[in-house]
Amino acid sequence: MILHWTGLARALRWEEEGTAPSLEGWLLSADGGLRPWDALVSSARLPSPVEYLNDDRLRTKGVQLWLKRDDLIHPDVPGNKWRKLKYNLHEMITQNHSVLLTFGGAYSNHLRATAAAGRACGISTIGIVRGEEHLPLNPSLAYAVSHGMRLGYLDRATYRKKNDRNIIASLQREYGSFYLLPEGGTNELAALGCSEILAELEPGFDVICCPCGTGGTLAGIVGTLSADQYAIGFSALKGAAFLESDIDALQRRTFGVRTRNWRIEYGYHFGGFAKKNADLEFFIAEFKRLHGLDLEWVYVAKMMYGLYAVIDRGDIARGSKVMAIITGPPGPE
Ligand SMILES: Cc1ncc(COP(=O)(O)O)c(C=O)c1O
Repeated sequence: MILHWTGLARALRWEEEGTAPSLEGWLLSADGGLRPWDALVSSARLPSPVEYLNDDRLRTKGVQLWLKRDDLIHPDVPGNKWRKLKYNLHEMITQNHSVLLTFGGAYSNHLRATAAAGRACGISTIGIVRGEEHLPLNPSLAYAVSHGMRLGYLDRATYRKKNDRNIIASLQREYGSFYLLPEGGTNELAALGCSEILAELEPGFDVICCPCGTGGTLAGIVGTLSADQYAIGFSALKGAAFLESDIDALQRRTFGVRTRNWRIEYGYHFGGFAKKNADLEFFIAEFKRLHGLDLEWVYVAKMMYGLYAVIDRGDIARGSKVMAIITGPPGPE
């Protein structure tokens, strides 16, 4: 068996008891095996900063918006990547694995961050990329390789079946034993890490927003949402109808609940994953001009564009306090 979930039960018990180990705690643990995290932890910025967005367009709609700057958590392991890797790396080390294998597209932020986290804590990483190899490597994959990640490729048809037992078995034959972290870093331990976003917030936010790829970040948020709060996920993918059932299933597996006070907006993918148009580019430039912030365009800018549109059409009640999670910084172009 590649992955044991005993660690999840343990993590949930930590949560219940209020004794969830911080990375600092792991560093100080007697076995010493987690020491290499030191460099990462010492520069992690948690809780991530919260900034109020002073914006006329929102003011006319009577909505107040704050940004949770998860993009500032760590320069190499930023945003939801940090949140998702935190308990997974702990679990992996607890299981005495020294190799982590994961999946992603050729422009995956997840592969980059996993490579950097692996390098920082002395773990070997393997990134299985969707599609054929293209040389020279694009800046994302070049970054991953420069941080020690070994790359492998699966053609698109095989990649779609990457969670099948026989595909995993063939990867094991090729790479040996590894800790398997699913695409986008999304699993129960990732959702647990993402639930800490809400735990860091002051009470009083009515609506929480985040972008969606696999839905792991939103699953962590909705799993711990209070009954008087509402969450909106903005899909960065076209045709992502799978998201709702995936998020339902993940929050049930992680938190044992299935909340209903959330929805996904599907209309702001701008043509599909990693596609953009002049409208989105104009929005990004305007946002930078008005607020001085460069939005990561594959996920974050699409969420922000969608959020403004949802507010413009009056779907968020006047007087609401909204928190948008900035799940990552701009990547290399
Ligand atoms: C910056 C950023 N935001 C959001 C997401 C999507 O998160 P999730 O897959 O948890 O839905 C990703 C995915 O890699 C990302 O890189």
